[in-house]
Amino acid sequence: MNKVTSFLRSKNGAIAAAVVIAALGATALQAQVKQGKTRPAKTGQLMKGIVKPNCGDAKKLSDAGPANDDEWADLALKAALLNEVSYSLMDDGRCPDGTWADSTTKMLREGSANLMKAADAKDAAAAKTAMGSILKSCKSCHDAHKKDH
Ligand code: HEC
Repeated sequence: MNKVTSFLRSKNGAIAAAVVIAALGATALQAQVKQGKTRPAKTGQLMKGIVKPNCGDAKKLSDAGPANDDEWADLALKAALLNEVSYSLMDDGRCPDGTWADSTTKMLREGSANLMKAADAKDAAAAKTAMGSILKSCKSCHDAHKKDH
């Protein structure tokens, strides 16, 4: 083996190592979005089990306008669960970037906190505004991070 071949071999070796490192990096990033670092709940499960049903129920209630105390309390309950899940979405290394963080804290978390206040005050107009902010969070984060949309 001459010097050139041995140089090429080592260069290919370095390239192969770089490809492996890049692939591991991409897997780690994907894992962060789809799941946290230590806790087992998957992002898809939080979406399907907590975010989607509570968002759907809250939207129906705020569109129609809650008819009585029970419905206002129900709206506050949905908003509380959406607010709480906003903390899980930011925890455990799940958040990959500023788009995720803004969608979660400025739209989902603030919107759901405002929805709780509106429900406590039985303010239907404020409830609709708050619901609008919650709905913005879905599109904002999904456009950047939900790959199958
Ligand atoms: C901070 C980011 C973020 C926000 C905010 C967000 N989502 Fe998601 N959502 C995701 C990601 C990422 C996935 C894809 C998860 C996967 O495929 O592993 C997803 C998937 C989903 C799914 C499919 C779940 C399944 O596996 O069947 C639904 C339904 C969903 N989101 C609803 C919503 C709704 C409704 C909102 C707004 C109230 C919302 N999401 C807000 C990131 C977000």
